[in-house]
Amino acid sequence: MDEKPKINQGLEGVYFMESEICKVDGKAGKLYYYGYDIGELAKHSNFEEVSYLLLHGKLPKQKELAVFKEALASNRELSEDVINLIKRIPKKTKPMHTLSVAMDLIGATEKNAENGSMEEASVRIISKMASVVGAIGSIRNTGKYNPPDETLSHTENFLYMLDGEKKKKDVVALTDTMLLLHAEHSSNASTFSGIVTISTMSDIYSATVSAINTLKGPLHGGADEAALKMIKDGMDKDPDKYINGIISSGGRIMGFGHRVYKTYDPRATIIKEQLKKALRNANKETKKIADAAFGIEEAAIKVTGKKGIWPNVDFFSGPVYSCIGIEEGLFTPVFALSRAPGWCSHIIEYSRNNRLIRPTVYYTGAVGKKYVEIGNR
Ligand SMILES: CC(C)(COP(=O)(O)OP(=O)(O)OC[C@H]1O[C@@H](n2cnc3c(N)ncnc32)[C@H](O)[C@@H]1OP(=O)(O)O)[C@@H](O)C(=O)NCCC(=O)NCCS
Repeated sequence: MDEKPKINQGLEGVYFMESEICKVDGKAGKLYYYGYDIGELAKHSNFEEVSYLLLHGKLPKQKELAVFKEALASNRELSEDVINLIKRIPKKTKPMHTLSVAMDLIGATEKNAENGSMEEASVRIISKMASVVGAIGSIRNTGKYNPPDETLSHTENFLYMLDGEKKKKDVVALTDTMLLLHAEHSSNASTFSGIVTISTMSDIYSATVSAINTLKGPLHGGADEAALKMIKDGMDKDPDKYINGIISSGGRIMGFGHRVYKTYDPRATIIKEQLKKALRNANKETKKIADAAFGIEEAAIKVTGKKGIWPNVDFFSGPVYSCIGIEEGLFTPVFALSRAPGWCSHIIEYSRNNRLIRPTVYYTGAVGKKYVEIGNR
């Protein structure tokens, strides 16, 4: 047998490319999109501008942003085929599956999916993904599709498509901040799977669909829904006892821990602040959920903080989405539409200097076995 190499299970610590897009400083608890601190962006920027930044590597001038917004707005409409798919898919289908097949259909029927410019396709993907999630939300609840409104901003329109109602400014602003905070996060699992797909010289739609399907798992984007379930489960219990029960039975605290951050996730800090603000106008039930989240957070940090396991982006997202009025089943699809610019940015960056991704496994099985006919086994 060959000499056993060092195996990096989960590709932990493996550098596979150089990138200018995003820096995650796990020790300092800092996050930068193209050099801009996430706190600065959350304070001064918005999702449309950040999407431009991620696709072009620089902040837009006024005219550039106007053209970009116009491109996002004019690509919002979904085809009859996509609307019918969302209407006819079995009712029990989870929204992440519906999002995945709808985006695959969009890619399959888009004229230039295979050979057009990836930058242009990215704008269509960001735009259409928000429409698809809006349509899934509305069709699931009312059977009705609310056509997009070109006069609204990207985030306003997404919220509008969910139920056909225009939202108050503070709700739009809170949602926009959530989208911005989720827009990019370096070489995480979903981004990497998009890159693997594009490395085969597949197309950017297929790469995005790979990323969507990878985001779905509870160790990645699905953690926001799992965290809210946990918070609700622990709501009327003593937080210390509840947390100790999870840990002693070998369970994990959802919305806690990160492969890179060994301190408080800077996005969680901002989301927690936003939640406290949003609670002023929240209903009783949401306030109760948020109180439970604060209690569980404190209890969990006592146990896990010393091990470098702190709240991540997903811990407070559920309570914030509840304040906005977004239903639990849509949390991960909303994460997906937020991450679309980050995915596209990495897919384009990798394909500029493409090399097929094909890692190696260390084979531990046998060789030279004799084939035995089925009747003689
Ligand atoms: C995200 C995650 C997979 C990253 O973990 P990782 O860096 O790969 O760490 P490991 O899975 O190797 O775990 C290392 C140790 O920390 C513990 N740990 C990690 N996350 C934990 C959590 N959320 N709750 C309790 N313990 C946790 C593990 O049990 C393990 O303990 P051990 O060494 O005693 O066996 C992990 O923190 C997790 O499962 N979190 C919950 C899901 C979640 O919130 N995901 C969203 C991420 S943004």
